[in-house]
Amino acid sequence: MSEYLQKIAQAMVAPGKGILAADESTGTIGKRFESIGVENIESHRRAYRDMLFTTRGIGQTISGVILYDETLKQKSADGTSFVELLNKNGILPGIKVDAGTKNLPLCKGELITEGLDNLPKRCQEYVQLGAKFAKWRAVITIDQNLPSSTCIKANAEALARYAAICQEAGLVPIVEPEVLMDGEHTIDRCEAVTEATLHALYEALYAYRVSLEASVLKPSMVISAKNCPQQASVEEVAQRTVRILKRTVPAAVSGIVFLSGGQSDALATAHLNAMNLLGTHPWPLSFSYGRALQQACLKVWKGQVANVPAAQAALAHRAKMNSLASLGRYQSSME
Ligand code: 13P
Repeated sequence: MSEYLQKIAQAMVAPGKGILAADESTGTIGKRFESIGVENIESHRRAYRDMLFTTRGIGQTISGVILYDETLKQKSADGTSFVELLNKNGILPGIKVDAGTKNLPLCKGELITEGLDNLPKRCQEYVQLGAKFAKWRAVITIDQNLPSSTCIKANAEALARYAAICQEAGLVPIVEPEVLMDGEHTIDRCEAVTEATLHALYEALYAYRVSLEASVLKPSMVISAKNCPQQASVEEVAQRTVRILKRTVPAAVSGIVFLSGGQSDALATAHLNAMNLLGTHPWPLSFSYGRALQQACLKVWKGQVANVPAAQAALAHRAKMNSLASLGRYQSSME
């Protein structure tokens, strides 16, 4: 089993490829639809994902797609299931298995991700439906006195338990500890918190016997907070991010795919490219973007059938730019 999972993990970070995060929950996709004036109903969600997955040539730049429970069970307009459609294009279907975040008791302002109850059973069902990998997102909030060590530890333990359950069921776990970029904190703070978070995560993964070779890390970048007056340069973000990854992530991990976390499309691409220009790293560094891949496409689409070709072209362009960035071959002039 472990050898099989390792092969899947390696395919997820194949050279020049990254992951499309299309696993927005019904609530989250509703917010995205609201921004373009599209009603959040099942047929619209299905049509939107159908457009993403039928983009011509997308399998050349995208190795896997993270789906949401509803999407994993939906079909393309011609009756082909999304899972089958992705498989035909050489794309691995993945599934978000966490149940979202709740307040962490006695830790004001902090969150814990839920969804461990029944997870072995749900993972078995997802394997039956054709999923090859899974995702679980933990959230770490930075504030003057946050995060607490309780929050870092509780989320690391939950990620580790999730990862172990996935591997036992036959799914490659993407472990995603997201340090939020909301607030005013400096890049120094982000670096210290991200380093502590990753240390705790890899300690927990070891304790829970998770095979690192059969896992993929999805971290946030070390970055200045959205409202920090001093915004770090692209080079500084790249250097600091790679520095702490080297300190904390064992070389055995199959690959690292970043989340975009609210960065603009072009900046998320530039950061990834700059990291890959810093030399050869112990692991492939690629992308698993949600918003930074879909934003442009969503804006062009607006829920209109007539806009589908142009919207697909926007998605294909972003995927191509990020594919080049994962190889250190992106230039902003290509935009
Ligand atoms: P963003 O790239 O929009 O942060 O989404 C990635 C993701 O999967 C968050 O869990």
